[in-house]
Amino acid sequence: MTRQWLKQGFIAGSLLAVGAASLVAPALGAPFGTRADVAYAGQLWSSLKYRHLVGKHAIMSTPYQGTHPHGAILDTIDGWTRVGNDAGPVIIKRNYGGPGVSKTAVANNPRKFLKAVTVMFKRPGYDPENQDWFWVKYGPDGSVLKNPKGMFLAGRVAKGTGKGCIACHKAAPGGDMVFNHDRYAR
Ligand code: HEC
Repeated sequence: MTRQWLKQGFIAGSLLAVGAASLVAPALGAPFGTRADVAYAGQLWSSLKYRHLVGKHAIMSTPYQGTHPHGAILDTIDGWTRVGNDAGPVIIKRNYGGPGVSKTAVANNPRKFLKAVTVMFKRPGYDPENQDWFWVKYGPDGSVLKNPKGMFLAGRVAKGTGKGCIACHKAAPGGDMVFNHDRYAR
């Protein structure tokens, strides 16, 4: 066995190892909730606030009875926004709950019952397999919430798994991943 052969064998082996690692890596590494996802979610919140779609002076729609896993009472608003060079439709769903929650109570004092703000933003070219939606779950103050595993709920949540925003929204009629309407179906 020559040294040369050993060397080549080593190189080939390393390349195989690197190749295998890159195949495995996406499954092991966080496909969502990265620092970049959280930063992007922050920019998205600012743009929504600027358009009065979230925050203290947010435009409100009529509260309605919710379904799991979104709150007991919901209110949903469709709009359009821009983040950097990305521009597209956005859907904001406010999730309300807590003692005494009802449609009337929420209509009268939305901020008292607001538990979370779930958002889908159509980000051109971001995730073609999933209609390019960027998913995020914010607390009422705009901070990005975490799942029970401590992962930030922002980005392609939780692509490739059987749970989470993407997995559940795939069941929405029209193939656009939106339950409430099929306006963005293509
Ligand atoms: C187990 C299923 C399920 C999961 C998980 C889920 N959703 Fe939903 N989502 C729904 C259903 C059902 C509706 C329609 C509810 C309604 O308005 O009556 C909905 C509605 C929405 C809407 C309004 C647009 C639409 O599809 O009608 C947004 C925005 C939204 N969800 C965001 C999210 C985000 C972000 C996550 C993840 C953090 C998430 N959802 C996780 C089931 C789910």
